[in-house]
Amino acid sequence: MADAEQFQDRMLSLGLARVSEAAALASHRLIGRGDEKAADQAAVNAMRDQLNLLDIAGVVVIGEGERDEAPMLYIGEKVGTGNGPAVDIALDPLEGTTLTAKDMPNALTVIAMAPRGTLLHAPDVYMEKLAIGPGYPVDTVTMNMTPTERVHALSKAKGGTAEDITVCILERDRHIDLIAEVRATGAAIRLITDGDVAGVMHCATPGTGIDMYMGSGGAPEGVLAASALKCMGGQMYGKLLFRNDDEIGRARKAGIEDLDRIYTKDELVTGDVIFAATGVTDGDLVAGIKRELGWVTTETILMRSRTGSVRRMTYRNPVKAI
Ligand code: FBP
Repeated sequence: MADAEQFQDRMLSLGLARVSEAAALASHRLIGRGDEKAADQAAVNAMRDQLNLLDIAGVVVIGEGERDEAPMLYIGEKVGTGNGPAVDIALDPLEGTTLTAKDMPNALTVIAMAPRGTLLHAPDVYMEKLAIGPGYPVDTVTMNMTPTERVHALSKAKGGTAEDITVCILERDRHIDLIAEVRATGAAIRLITDGDVAGVMHCATPGTGIDMYMGSGGAPEGVLAASALKCMGGQMYGKLLFRNDDEIGRARKAGIEDLDRIYTKDELVTGDVIFAATGVTDGDLVAGIKRELGWVTTETILMRSRTGSVRRMTYRNPVKAI
C-alpha cells in the first residue's frame, strides 16, 4: 500500500516518456538495415541508460530475459537511482525487431511502470490472448468461448453482424485453424507479421478498424498490452501456454502456482500503471521516426490508468549527421 501511495504517476510519467523516446532514437539508424540484433541492442542500451536517471527504486519484472541470457534489463535487474518509489518495470526496448530491420509498420519501444508487486511476473513463454476495446459489458467475449462464439457475441454487442467485425491475428502456422474458423464466420481478419502489443492496443484505438485481438504471442508482451489497455479501456484475457517442462519451470520460478489460470487485464496489472510507447516505424498508434537532414522526430503515446489520460508527444531532436 505504501508503494502505491508513493507512486506519483503524474510526475513519473514524463520521465517514462523520455525513456521510450531514447530507445526509439537510438534505433533510428538501424531501421531497414536488416540487422535485428543491432537494432535491439541500440534500443536496450539507450533505454537502460535513460531509465537509470529516473528517481525510482525500480525492478525489471518484464525485460530482456533471464539474468543468465540477457546482460542488460534482465528480469530482476534494479534500475533507477534508488531514490524514489519502489516500482515494477515492464519493458520491451524494441517490440518488433524484425519489423524494424525490414522497415515494416508498427515497431515500437514500450515501457510500463507500476507500484512494486503489481505487474504479473510473466515468464518468457507464450500466452493465449483475447482483447476487445472499451464500451462493451464485462465478459462480452471470454476465453471459454470458441472463436466463432466470440465473433457472434461481439457483433451482437456492437449491434451488427459478423461481417462488421475485424479480428487482428498474428500470422503464424499455429494460427491456421484459428484463421480458418474466424474467416468462416464472415468476419474480416487483419493479419500482422509481428508486434502483438500494438495488435491488442489497436482494439482500443479509434480509427484502426480492429474490434478484437485473438491468438498466442509472448507472455511478456501480454503484460505490456494489459498495461496499455488498463489506461485506454477495453478488456483483455491471457492464459499462459507451456510447451515443455522447462517452460513450466520458468513459470514456477516466477512464482506462478496455477498454470491454468485465465488472467483478466486487472489480474495481469493489479494497480495503477503508466505506459509509454514511441513509434519506431509508422503505425496506426503512433507515427514512426521521421528523419530529415540534421533532425530526428519521434511520436510518443503516454498514458496513465489512474486518470485514463492519453497524451501524444512529438519530439524533434537535432542530430549531427543522418
Ligand atoms: P520481437 O520484437 O522480440 O521480435 O517480438 C515480436 C513478436 O511479434 C511479439 O509482438 C509477439 O508477442 C511475439 O513476437 C510472437 O512470437 P513468435 O514470433 O514466436 O510467434
